[in-house]
Amino acid sequence: MITLEKFEASDIQRLIDWVPDADFLLQWSGPKYMFPLDEKQLIASLEVTRTDRPPQFMFKALLDGTPIGHIELMGVNYVEKSAVLARVLIGPKQYRGQGWGKMMIRLALHFAFEDLELEDIDLGVFAFNKSAIHCYQQFGFKIYKTIPNHEDEGWTLLRMNLNGDDWVHTKKNDESGER
Ligand SMILES: CC(C)(COP(=O)(O)OP(=O)(O)OC[C@H]1O[C@@H](n2cnc3c(N)ncnc32)[C@H](O)[C@@H]1OP(=O)(O)O)[C@@H](O)C(=O)NCCC(=O)NCCS
Repeated sequence: MITLEKFEASDIQRLIDWVPDADFLLQWSGPKYMFPLDEKQLIASLEVTRTDRPPQFMFKALLDGTPIGHIELMGVNYVEKSAVLARVLIGPKQYRGQGWGKMMIRLALHFAFEDLELEDIDLGVFAFNKSAIHCYQQFGFKIYKTIPNHEDEGWTLLRMNLNGDDWVHTKKNDESGER
């Protein structure tokens, strides 16, 4: 059973330990963080989450109480009711490919659409990241833009989007056991 809890300063070292190299950092989090990921960069992110109506939420994902994942909502816009799902990670490799990632994403989307009452969630994912894309598609995310040779990394970046109607449809399918 996966639960989400607020990411705290005491979670920082574990997250750093889950990022083995610069390519993985880029695949997971995009170009904003510099390798090696360190406390200073993560404290700066945490500061942003500690404001009123924060534009960013950082969560750790616990499997029966053991931290195994990380997920964020960034760029939360309370007027346009939009945000970006980001930094999606099942940390220890042995926990990947068992459905925990999808469960974690479902909880983050529930928080975004139901608790924050957002209506539009965007994300970026590199085209080679088949398991991540597959997860997102199962929630109804659709690719709306393909950016070949994206910036410095030169990888193909996909932008995907999920709106409130897609989410309602996904929830209905979940409830009727269609997925
Ligand atoms: C992406 C990530 C969070 C997914 O979590 P996970 O727990 O491994 O994923 P799940 O087990 O919940 O689901 C993976 C799905 O992808 C499918 N999949 C795996 N490899 C695949 C491939 N090469 N092609 C297509 N689908 C694939 C699985 O079959 C599963 O779908 P299913 O339930 O229909 O069988 C995790 O793999 C991860 O942390 N990756 C490294 C960090 C990263 O790249 N994050 C995404 C940044 S955008």
